[in-house]
Amino acid sequence: MTGAVCPGSFDPVTNGHLDVISRAAAQFDEVIVTVMINKSKRGLFSVDERIRMLEDSTSDLPNVRVSSWHGLLVDYAKQEGITAIVKGLRGANDFDYELQMAQMNQKLSGVDTLFIPTNPTYSYLSSSLVKEVAQFGGEVADMLPAKVHAQLLERIAERAAEKS
Ligand code: PNS
Repeated sequence: MTGAVCPGSFDPVTNGHLDVISRAAAQFDEVIVTVMINKSKRGLFSVDERIRMLEDSTSDLPNVRVSSWHGLLVDYAKQEGITAIVKGLRGANDFDYELQMAQMNQKLSGVDTLFIPTNPTYSYLSSSLVKEVAQFGGEVADMLPAKVHAQLLERIAERAAEKS
């Protein structure tokens, strides 16, 4: 059985992430989408919220499951008996950053990283940019699953109310 882990912050999941996840799911028997916990970064959504969004958004993919992990990604891959990490590549900037991590992960553990070139429809998309645009009232509805979009607008309104 072939398995891969698709790691990320997913704060929140975008249509670009889902494109990569569904294409990975077509190549592997099992794909684990893992929310990597970074305690030094306050996300817009909690890890549990991100997991629920991912579960909802991937419910049509029977060979995908969602988890979270705090620590080295390769330790998680080893624990799960998985030998491949799958990442999406939007362009040259991603490549520079991702290549270094892929080589480090390979050196640490022997776990290899496989890159999926992002569908050009989504090559400009990132969770950070979507949040920034939405915070200033820009339209991001077609960049996220509908439910995630609604949750994003709700959270932005909550945060704005906290500040006022
Ligand atoms: O969605 P992101 O924020 O671009 O994802 C980056 C992430 C979380 C996948 C990466 O930072 C990571 O794997 N972090 C886990 C800790 C780790 O293993 N660090 C060593 C990487 S060589």
